[in-house]
Amino acid sequence: MKKLVNFVLAIIISAGAAADEGMWLPSLIANRIGDMTEKGFKLTAEDIYSINNASLKDCVVQFAGGCTGELISGDGLLITNHHCGYDMIQSHSSVEHDYLTDGFWAANRSEELPNENLSVSFLVRMEDVTETVLKGCTASTTEEERIDIVDKNAESLIIKAEKEGPGYYAEVKPLYYGNQYFLFVYQEFTDVRLVGAPPSSIGKFGGDTDNWMWPRHTGDFSLFRIYADKDNNPAPYSPDNVPYKPKKFFNISLKGVQEDDFTLVYGYPGRTQEYILSDAVDYIANVSDPHKVALRTLRLDIQNEEMGKSAEIRIKYASKNAGIANAWKKWQGEIKGIKKMKTVDTKREFEKKFNEWAAGKSEYEGLIDRMKEIYETEKEYLFVTDYLTEAVLAVEAISFSGRYVQSENREKLAEYFFKDYYKPIDHETFVAMMSEYVANIPEKFQPEYFKKQLKKYGTIEKMADKLYASSVFTDREKLMKASDKKLKSDGFYKLYECFISDYKTNIMPVVTKSENELQLLYRTYMKGQMEFMKNKDFYPDANFTLRVAYGRVKGYEPADGVSYYPVSTLEGIMQKDNPDIYDYNIPQKLRDIYKDKDYGRWEVNGTVPVCFIATNHTTGGNSGSPVIDAEGNLIGVNFDRVWEGTMSDIQFDPEFCRNIVLDIRYALFVIDKVAGASHLIDEMVIVEE
Ligand code: ARG
Ligand code: GLU
Repeated sequence: MKKLVNFVLAIIISAGAAADEGMWLPSLIANRIGDMTEKGFKLTAEDIYSINNASLKDCVVQFAGGCTGELISGDGLLITNHHCGYDMIQSHSSVEHDYLTDGFWAANRSEELPNENLSVSFLVRMEDVTETVLKGCTASTTEEERIDIVDKNAESLIIKAEKEGPGYYAEVKPLYYGNQYFLFVYQEFTDVRLVGAPPSSIGKFGGDTDNWMWPRHTGDFSLFRIYADKDNNPAPYSPDNVPYKPKKFFNISLKGVQEDDFTLVYGYPGRTQEYILSDAVDYIANVSDPHKVALRTLRLDIQNEEMGKSAEIRIKYASKNAGIANAWKKWQGEIKGIKKMKTVDTKREFEKKFNEWAAGKSEYEGLIDRMKEIYETEKEYLFVTDYLTEAVLAVEAISFSGRYVQSENREKLAEYFFKDYYKPIDHETFVAMMSEYVANIPEKFQPEYFKKQLKKYGTIEKMADKLYASSVFTDREKLMKASDKKLKSDGFYKLYECFISDYKTNIMPVVTKSENELQLLYRTYMKGQMEFMKNKDFYPDANFTLRVAYGRVKGYEPADGVSYYPVSTLEGIMQKDNPDIYDYNIPQKLRDIYKDKDYGRWEVNGTVPVCFIATNHTTGGNSGSPVIDAEGNLIGVNFDRVWEGTMSDIQFDPEFCRNIVLDIRYALFVIDKVAGASHLIDEMVIVEE
C-alpha cells in the first residue's frame, strides 16, 4: 500500500502538470485547445496555426536571430523590444545624433533607417519529419552512423524545402532529444528598417537595477518596418523596395488587463532543460551557478567602484556591466528557485520510482545509473570549463590577445576593444579572477606554463604587475607597432595559448565524449519518462523554435508578508524618477506630460498603465514576443521574467514564475504623446477602446 501511495505521489509531483506550464508546438496546439478554452481562450487551433490560411503565426517573426517581433500594420510595421533593437539603434548613433539617449522617430517612410546585418524570418510551416529523417536507421545502427544518416536525410529535406519559395531557408531540429524531428521552413527578409525607438531613459528605464524585477516600469520597445520588392518578395536593401504587405498582422486592444485574464505568448524561446537528471540540476544549483555568481560579483564590484568615479569609465563599461549583471541576476534567482522547490530531491525521488518501473525492461533498466556515472566523471571537467570561461577568459587582456592574434581585421578589432577598455579595471580583475582560479581549480588541472609562471613571480599580484606593465595588449600604440613574433611571445597571449591548448587536450575531449554519450542516453530516458507517465502532456524543451505559452495575468507573493499586484502605472515611474541617477532620469517631456495630466485617449483611471505580469512559461528569446488576449488581439510585448522565477528553465513553479510584459497602451502613449509620432498609430488597427 505504502509503495502504491509513493508511486502515485511521485507521478503527481514529477508530472507536475502545473497549470500554465509549457511551451507548446503551434502545429500540435489542437491537443491543448480544450484546456485553453476552459481558461478563457476564444479562438481555434486553426486560428493559431494554419498552413492553408493566414493565421496568428503569420504575425510573428524571429527577430535578429535571438529575439521575437510581431507585425502591427498592413504596411509591414513591427514591434519588438528596445533591448532587441539596441544594436541597430546604437549603430545609427553618433555624437550629433545620439538615438540611444534621445530616441529616434522617422517622420516619414523616407527617414526610416536600413540596417546592414538585420533580418527577420516568418515561419512558413513546420512538419514532423521523424520517419524520413530516421530512414535507414536500425536497431544496430551506432550513434556515429545515426548522426550521419540523420544529417543526410535532413539535408535533402532542407534542399527541397528551400526551393519552395523566395527567401526560404529551412532547418531540421530534434525535439525530445531526437525522439522526434521537425522541419521548419522560414521566409527571411533582409531589408528591415528602424522606424522608432524611445530614449533609453524610457526603453531601458530602471537599467540593470530593475532588470529581472517586479514592479517594473520599462518601456522596452522599438519599431521596425519590413521592406520587400514590388512583388512583395524578400529582397536585399534597395531604395526601390516598398513596405511589405503581411498575410496578417495583430489588431491592438486597448481594453487592458485584469487579474486572471487569459494571456498567450507566441514566440521563440531559446533553451530550457526540463527533463534533466537530478545530478545535472545539483551541479547547476549547488556548484556551477554559485561559483559563477561569486566570480561575477567580484567583477561587478571592481567595475562598479571605478564606474562610480567617472562618467567616462561609466560609459565605457556600461554595456559590459549590463551583460555581466544580466546572467548574474538570473542565476541567483535560479539557485533560489531550485532550492525552494527542492528540485534535486524531487527528481531523485522520481528517478527511484522510474528505476523500480524500469526493472526487467531491458531498454530502461540501469539507464539512470549509467547516466549518473557519466555525470560523476564529467563533473570536475565541467567545473574547470566554468572557470575557464568565467574567470580566465573574463580577463579582458587574455581573451582579447587570443581574438586579436586570430583576427583578420586586427585594426578594427583593436579600435573596438580600446574604445571601451580601462586598464586599472582589467588589472584588478586579473588579480581577483586568477586568485579564485588558483584557489578553486586543483593543481592537476592547471596548465603547466601557468604554474611555472606563478612560481616564477611568486604571487598573482606580482604576475599581474609585470604583465600589465609590459604587455602590448593593454596599449593600443604598442600593439599597432608589434610584430607577429612579439605578439606571440607576449605574456597575455602565452597565457591565452596555454589555457586554450590545455583545455583542448585535457578537458574538452572528456566533456565532449560525456555530452555525446549523455545525449544518446537522454533520448532513451526521455522516451522512458513519456512511457512511465502516460497521462502527462509533455512539451519539448525550448530550442529557438516557435512556441505557444498560455496563462493568465497574476500577481505573486515573493516573500512572507509581501504581495505584488500584477499591473504597474505611470505613477511608479514618477516615484522612481530621479535626475541624479542615470537609470531613473526620465525625459523632461514625460515629466511635463505627467504634470499636465495630458494623457489623451491613453488615460485609465487617472493614470497610464505601463507593465503587467502573467504566468506564461517563457525564457530568453521570448523577448519581443506578442502577448495576446482571449480574442487574439495584441495587449502587450514580452520582455523579461521575475528573478524569483528564473528556475522555470529547469522547473516551473506556478506560484513564482511570471513573465514581464510591456502594456501595449504604454507603448502607444509614448509613441503618441512623448514622440509625437501619431502617424504610426494611424496605420495600426485598434479594436477596443
Ligand atoms: N533580463 C532581460 C533578458 O534577459 C532583459 C535584458 C536587457 N535589459 C537590461 N537592463 N540589461 O534579456
Ligand atoms: N529578456 C529576455 C530575452 O531577451 C527574456 C527574459 C527571459 O525570460 O529570460 O529574451
